[in-house]
Amino acid sequence: MIATAQALPDIRVSPEIVLIVAVADNGVIGSRGAMPWRLKSDMRRLKAMTLARPVVMGRKTFASIGRPLPGRTNIVVTRDAGFRAHGAVVTTSIADARAVARGDALRRFATEIAVIGGAEIYTQWMDCADRLEITEVHARPEGDTCFAAIDAAIWQEVARERHPAGPDDSADFSYVTYRRRKSH
Ligand SMILES: NC(=O)c1ccc[n+]([C@@H]2O[C@H](COP(=O)([O-])OP(=O)(O)OC[C@H]3O[C@@H](n4cnc5c(N)ncnc54)[C@H](OP(=O)(O)O)[C@@H]3O)[C@@H](O)[C@H]2O)c1
Repeated sequence: MIATAQALPDIRVSPEIVLIVAVADNGVIGSRGAMPWRLKSDMRRLKAMTLARPVVMGRKTFASIGRPLPGRTNIVVTRDAGFRAHGAVVTTSIADARAVARGDALRRFATEIAVIGGAEIYTQWMDCADRLEITEVHARPEGDTCFAAIDAAIWQEVARERHPAGPDDSADFSYVTYRRRKSH
């Protein structure tokens, strides 16, 4: 079948960089290498938001997931040039991860690159992100890893949906979308 130009996304536009993160009301995102809550609803959403896209993550987050996420190009960032991970592309700098993710997005006709953590990686991608997809977890768990406060001068909240905890969720949660303000 020959695809018409109209059926294809506009690949002249760079893929958007989207940070996807679940953050507790006290800023915690992780505890001892894992997430200190159970939110099956959010896991399903993460899958829907990242399938058929490149996903970028730090080596520690990759270790905490324990396997490559299926149906996505898993791009792992580490400073260890000898690190190998079956089913993932290993990169040794943020710049390399970005170049690999961009190439993969263009090949897949994906319009987004998803950055899925953890804290070290979010910090380094924040300045080039176009959108933040935050799951506010309405709990105050103990933890050792936090997400930096979202600067309202840079980020504008454009959507918010609150949900009660489902049968497999340990807390109520809200999905909140932020877009970078035009002047930044
Ligand atoms: N709530 C959420 O949505 C969410 C999402 C993801 C993760 N988490 C949690 O966050 C925690 C992990 O976060 P984290 O901040 O400790 O670790 P991380 O960001 O997942 O990974 C950090 C590692 O990435 C590599 N790295 C970082 N910057 C790099 C650079 N500029 N160049 C090359 N490699 C670089 C280093 O790997 P090497 O040490 O191998 O050099 C570093 O140790 C866990 O508790 C996890 O469960 C929460």
